[in-house]
Amino acid sequence: MSTPKRYTITTALPYTNGPIHIGHLAGVYVPADIYARYLRLTGNDVVLIGGSDEHGVPITIKAKNEGVTPQDIVDKYHAIIKKSFEDFGISFDNYSRTSAPIHHKTASEFFKTLNEKGEFIEETTEQLFDAEANQFLADRFVTGTCPKCGNEEAYGDQCEKCGTSLNATDLINPKSTLTGNTPTLKETKHWFLPLNKHEDFLKEWILEGHKKDWKPNVYGQVKSWIDDGLRPRAVTRDLDWGIPVPAEGGEGKVLYVWFDAPIGYISSTIEWAEREGKDWKPYWKDEDTKLIHFIGKDNIVFHCIIFPSMLKAEGSYILPENVPANEFLNLEGNKLSTSKNWAVWLPEYLEEFPDQQDVLRYVLTANAPETKDNDFTWKDFQARNNNELVAIFGNFINRVVVLTNKYYNGVVPEPNEFNDVDLETLAAVKAYPNVIASSIERYRFREAGQELMNLARLGNKYLADAEPWKVIKEDEARTKTIMYVALQIASALATLSEPFLPFTSAKLKGILNVTSNAVEMSWNDITEKEVLLPAGHQIGKAELLFSKIEDKTIQEQLDKLEASKKANEAANKAVEPQKDTITFEDFTKLDIRVGTILEAEKMPKTKKLLVLKVDTGIDTRTIVSGIAESFTPEEVVGKKVTVLVNLAPRKLRGVESQGMILMTETPEGKLVFVNPDDQEVSNGLQIS
Ligand code: 2FM
Ligand code: ZN
Repeated sequence: MSTPKRYTITTALPYTNGPIHIGHLAGVYVPADIYARYLRLTGNDVVLIGGSDEHGVPITIKAKNEGVTPQDIVDKYHAIIKKSFEDFGISFDNYSRTSAPIHHKTASEFFKTLNEKGEFIEETTEQLFDAEANQFLADRFVTGTCPKCGNEEAYGDQCEKCGTSLNATDLINPKSTLTGNTPTLKETKHWFLPLNKHEDFLKEWILEGHKKDWKPNVYGQVKSWIDDGLRPRAVTRDLDWGIPVPAEGGEGKVLYVWFDAPIGYISSTIEWAEREGKDWKPYWKDEDTKLIHFIGKDNIVFHCIIFPSMLKAEGSYILPENVPANEFLNLEGNKLSTSKNWAVWLPEYLEEFPDQQDVLRYVLTANAPETKDNDFTWKDFQARNNNELVAIFGNFINRVVVLTNKYYNGVVPEPNEFNDVDLETLAAVKAYPNVIASSIERYRFREAGQELMNLARLGNKYLADAEPWKVIKEDEARTKTIMYVALQIASALATLSEPFLPFTSAKLKGILNVTSNAVEMSWNDITEKEVLLPAGHQIGKAELLFSKIEDKTIQEQLDKLEASKKANEAANKAVEPQKDTITFEDFTKLDIRVGTILEAEKMPKTKKLLVLKVDTGIDTRTIVSGIAESFTPEEVVGKKVTVLVNLAPRKLRGVESQGMILMTETPEGKLVFVNPDDQEVSNGLQIS
């Protein structure tokens, strides 16, 4: 294990325009938390930094749509997001927000320093402008076709499909997201960071310096951008929401959100240090500090090219040691999407699975999108809970604690002579801290989580093979040794599970009564100390660590997603365009009456047709209707319907139909009788 060091660990600052979902947790916050907790347990000086990203166009758009101020939006979601992180045990040393005064001050000063050092180019250029909205169009105010990959929905600052960072004027066929208008060009002055000036440094630092230790997905993306050639990038915007540009000529302009947000890591560290009475500078300026950015893959360019160029230009900061970006998590085969409500939101998860944060943490770690996009499925969630957490980890601990209480009133027994299996098992336990540590230190959290489960497997197998419940009948001395060995494994699990399952670890430490200094283990103690849980130590009573998740619970989640899918399809189904105008006279030619279906039967040898007898008030007549795939004959008898009675009769399969029942069709293809109050019937559906 390596010697203790100082670590500054940052996590992408989430935009405060909605709650956070499993994708955020899996991609950034759970891995960062595992890493930080592990480093603290191994005696390092760690600061885990987070905060809310409260500027940027998406927030102003949401505020506009909801008729509230951007401040209202960020206040609401900052509180929700902060609480979700606390609820899921993300052990931030500080969680700040970019609207905080300390951040405005830090970001302004950073800008001023670069400006004074001549690190920007000030230029008046033609930028996209929406005359109707009286607004320059940058970032998410404009969409268009990505010049690199052809994606027609690229934004003014980035194409989310291929990850390319763009200038708004690069877009082909740009359209304003405010009005749908095609923008015009208008002159405006901005400050540009000449990334091209930093190309040589970036090549040397990343392409030569980090070829081996950065993840291939991160290195590959960075290399491709550098190989394409870097260009100056505007770091200011014509907006009124953000940090005012602190320079002459900067009136009415703010810093680009991606200029101020990463500086938020520094402001949050300063806020923490001031509160804790510490000096923040070593955490950002001492060459011995390891700076690690946890992010998702859409943030790679900002953390590997733009922010490092800013830090380098400023001159007094360290650069990131690593940027272990993850790929994306999908949900049940589809991309997570806020607008389509295709997500598992953390506040909702906690309502539906109270106190089961560790289950989600475990599953998201086991399935983390570390090297490629990955899928979260509810079936896998259930299987990992039932077959791993309950059947292996929980079962082992439960048996050890129940038997220790039953045989020895909860007192760890004195072992007798160890046999070969005992000695091998104890030696294997001592190897685990290093095995897990090696995976964590290489950012392989999936592998690390599985190694933890392997330790529980080892315990489970040891007990199953040693069968203390049988041995107790004939050999009390041997039973004591078996239980002693099993208790050592339980103790190791209590400590080694902490980074992954912090709530379970705390509960288990409570059950094993190892929260006092005398018996609490550090990570390294497990390898170094002869005895983990000494004979004579009193443990507590058994409590279940995990509980089985039933099929019904999973089905409810799947039904919820199905409902989202249907709602989306309905919303997306294009409404038929209006037909040609008719005269009032044309309309009065239609004779539409209320009728009741008296009888119904299927038309032989057809799938779609029902033959109906309908009381129209004028007469009882036969109507052939193509509704057999949506209704059985029994379902329609007695129904009141609207009937077009003066439609010219026509023969269908030899039966004369004397009118037409008016129906509409839902986006899912289901026919329904005309009743605009019906929840399934949305505006714009045609009646035919
Ligand atoms: O992609 C996002 O959600 C951004 N708000 C991440 C910002 S990371 C950092 F630079 F602050
Ligand atoms: Zn693209």
